[in-house]
Amino acid sequence: MRSFLIINGPNLNLLGTREPSIYGAKTLDDIAEELREWSKVHSVEVSFFQSNHEGAIVDAIQGAKGIVDAIVINPGALTHYSIAMRDALIAIETPFVEVHLSNVYAREEFRHKSVISDVALGKIVGLGSIGYRLAVEALLERLG
Ligand code: DQA
Repeated sequence: MRSFLIINGPNLNLLGTREPSIYGAKTLDDIAEELREWSKVHSVEVSFFQSNHEGAIVDAIQGAKGIVDAIVINPGALTHYSIAMRDALIAIETPFVEVHLSNVYAREEFRHKSVISDVALGKIVGLGSIGYRLAVEALLERLG
């Protein structure tokens, strides 16, 4: 059975109440529950980690090395500037997919830049919470 870690960065703990017109009405717990249910029938185990702190995200990435088969990460605002997170993702040599709930390209210019897209396996933006599941599906297919 494959094991994936789903990482969410700053402010994603506020999903459900945070700008619902942009991020949707589901809470992070709702999203986690739905993905866990889906994962049960697709022979993959998903665990969730969320933090508002860059260092905690780096620690979680480092801790995943050799423990999980792949990572799905929505780094929130860290996407746009965290070289520490980028370095950690490269260091652990574990495939990962970048996910954003909103279409970052239809928003402010500073959201157009990601410091991890070039080292990600791929990226899903603008499709809401389904993006996490699509990322898991893509990774399962890729890992075989
Ligand atoms: C986000 C987009 C980021 O620009 C923003 O800072 C977030 C959420 C998204 O899921 O659309 O916190 O990653």
